[in-house]
Amino acid sequence: VAEFDSVPWYPTPLGGTDPAWQESYSKAHDLVQQMSILEKVNVTTGTGWMMGLCVGNTGPATRVNFPSLCLQDGPLGLRFAENISAFPAGITTGATWNRELMRARGIALGREARLKGVNVILGPSMGALGMNPAGGRNWESFGSDPVLQGVAAAETIRGIQRNGVMATAKHFVLNEQEHFRQPFEWGIPTAMSSNIDDRALHEVFVWPFAESVRADVASVMCSYQMVNNSHACENSKLLNGILKDELGFQGFVQSDWLAQRSGVQSALSGLDMSMPGDGLHWQDGDSLWGPHLTRAALNTSVPMDRLNDMVTRIVAAYYHFRQDTWEGSPTNDIIGPNFSSWTHERNGSLHPGSPDDHTNEVVNYFVNAQGKAPHTHGNVARKVAAEGIVLLKNVDGILPLSRNASHSTGKYRVGIYGEDAGPGQGPNFCADRGCNQGTLASGWGSGAVNFPYLVNPWDALKSAWSSETVDARAYLTNNVAVQDLVEQDLCLVFANADGGEGFIKIDGVNGDRNDLFLQRNGTGLIEGVAHHCGGGRGKTIVVVHSIGPVILDPWIDLPGVDAVLYANLPGQESGNALADVLFGDVDASGRLPYTIGRSLEDYGPGAQILYESSEPVPQVFLTQGLYLDYRYFDKFNVTPHYEFGYGLSYTTFEFGSLQIVQLQDKSRLPTKRLKNQIDPPKYENVPESPSSSLFPSDFNILGKYIYPYLKTREGTKAGKYPYPDGYKDKQHPSAAGGGPGGNPSLYEPMLQLSVELTNTGSRAGKEVIQIYVSFPANVVESRGFGRTPEPIEFPDRVLRNFEKVSLEPNETRVVNMTLTRKDLSYWSVRQQNWVLPTENSFRIWAGRSSRDLPLVAEF
Ligand code: NOJ
Repeated sequence: VAEFDSVPWYPTPLGGTDPAWQESYSKAHDLVQQMSILEKVNVTTGTGWMMGLCVGNTGPATRVNFPSLCLQDGPLGLRFAENISAFPAGITTGATWNRELMRARGIALGREARLKGVNVILGPSMGALGMNPAGGRNWESFGSDPVLQGVAAAETIRGIQRNGVMATAKHFVLNEQEHFRQPFEWGIPTAMSSNIDDRALHEVFVWPFAESVRADVASVMCSYQMVNNSHACENSKLLNGILKDELGFQGFVQSDWLAQRSGVQSALSGLDMSMPGDGLHWQDGDSLWGPHLTRAALNTSVPMDRLNDMVTRIVAAYYHFRQDTWEGSPTNDIIGPNFSSWTHERNGSLHPGSPDDHTNEVVNYFVNAQGKAPHTHGNVARKVAAEGIVLLKNVDGILPLSRNASHSTGKYRVGIYGEDAGPGQGPNFCADRGCNQGTLASGWGSGAVNFPYLVNPWDALKSAWSSETVDARAYLTNNVAVQDLVEQDLCLVFANADGGEGFIKIDGVNGDRNDLFLQRNGTGLIEGVAHHCGGGRGKTIVVVHSIGPVILDPWIDLPGVDAVLYANLPGQESGNALADVLFGDVDASGRLPYTIGRSLEDYGPGAQILYESSEPVPQVFLTQGLYLDYRYFDKFNVTPHYEFGYGLSYTTFEFGSLQIVQLQDKSRLPTKRLKNQIDPPKYENVPESPSSSLFPSDFNILGKYIYPYLKTREGTKAGKYPYPDGYKDKQHPSAAGGGPGGNPSLYEPMLQLSVELTNTGSRAGKEVIQIYVSFPANVVESRGFGRTPEPIEFPDRVLRNFEKVSLEPNETRVVNMTLTRKDLSYWSVRQQNWVLPTENSFRIWAGRSSRDLPLVAEF
């Protein structure tokens, strides 16, 4: 396997090999067996942009009772819907390092989708994974480490799917920057290519997708850009090879919106659903599938087995989550979506994208999905937002604050500074949150929602102190006059950095950020406040809201800056969650989900966005893929400002001891891949006449709507079609496969760890036990007889497990955790398998951040 090659991998492994999906596949088989080609095609192809109430809508197979499916963004809540919650973003959720909260947020999100009639949520996102700290969409996912991403994604998926709603793991894979992600947005003929070697692909970027498949995810979304110069949605190595064979994925692959770039090629490479159904451009009235897939099935350029597998995967997923048992919601009889993405009015059109649709029906039933008091989803949002706040600095324990601060002479004076502390023009001032004004609680793009409400910091703080003794005032501007500072005892200053998806470009930020500095004069604001607060004698607390790391150097070490809270993107409960931590009702227990460096360059040459390119097909080489974030800082001795995993608590913890118990013998390879325990469904192919696929004669065609019907019989004759290179050489199943997420033996525990932790402070609090692994020294791989073996390089340490623990003062707990074979293996490009090095010893570290690891054991 050459370094940046895309190897052909055909044909698509059939779904229906996992015993856990047996019943769903058997039901799906019974249904699909009855479908005509037209019906099958209809289920695989979206009806077109704005041709249904959701952002994606599949065609139904009405005759056999299979409905149209509603697919709706996104990772932190339901986009374009009302009466829903704006949860904290993925990055905030990652910063909690709290598995239970990750799950709880997923459950609440799934519940809302269920109540709104959404079949498939377009989330969670676990890519962009955070290779580039300036990446515009890193905030939608959970942090710059595959294990943190994998755990958070899996918990979210389990939570969502517990409601019978399907989740989508996206974006598969390597959509690490917004610039050039697709042609039409960036004025280039072809999307960029993210080029990656096989090892980093497996060990870093695919890892969270493997965890998602283990968590039984229903759907995977392939991404816009190319991988090794083959479009992600028609890359047979990725979809057929890695996802469906090696990871044993049983659900369906859907394209990102217009990420599909070919008809036959994408079908043969493993795409199962075309979204939103339109062809190469938005609402172009054509599709790459739809009628073209009907034709391809008739003329055999797409084998009938492949079409059957596509639709079976979709129908099986529908049964797997028991969506066939859905009943109308209590307030109306609607089983499908009871809201419209395209209007806030009660009535609207069913297909607003069509010039011919003049329907005017009830489309918004305004179903309240936010949960009933006292168990509203706002409570979950608040908990996640509070635990997602990272305390970076706390001089002399100035935090937590007291609500009854007082002064011997007159009132204790508090000033709150910055636009980011206030309401601005309201949270929904710009479409898809595409502007930076008021307090920042979400990034922008399809991963954002309309806020039902947003408790801004000033709202929550103005009545937080006792008014008898404290005079709290707000100056919600980024240009504060000195006279508004000099009298204060305490100053709270807010600043932010925003970015988002590449279809929105504002203030010179084209999705990806241009630098890692605070925006809107945030740095100047903080410097001014720190300098002048109380005439130089006041205390200053800085609060940062950001989509990713910001450079702190210009201001964090100023003598006036006493505390810094990194509050990420908190969602609707922003102010309340902040108050919870500021006043110590909740311990400061967030930990950084990425490294904060001292400059953008600190992250390495391989972690920079490609902003400009003179090439028709921009090329990005992710040569630094294995050295993501802290792994780069560690390997190249770059001192971060605050390392990955860092965060203070209001109490102190001592790591007592680390014991390890070996549960299995060390052996280099996982056990042999087992044969599939069950067989995929088999279909009798009933030949269909092409004329049965023509538009019925009296059919009322809606312009721009994507139908499966053909206008003529042209091109339907079955014949010999040239399949792509490599199609004839049937690939062997990967030795690394054989179960959900890969060979089951990879996920067997290899080591049992027991970590003793004590709360040595005087307050109850939470610590995150972080487990890192250093691979053995001098690992080599044979290159064959007579040749010098090849040395295998490793990052210094990699995160492999974590657990958040809550302890009372003086309480000690022994926490048990495990490491699996996969945790202790690297991806061998030569062997095409996970290899556990048996020479020399591993070091297993336990501690409180990637650089503060007091305990170590050898294995
Ligand atoms: C494009 C985005 O990349 C994807 O994340 C989203 O789900 C779709 N648009 C649908 O809005």
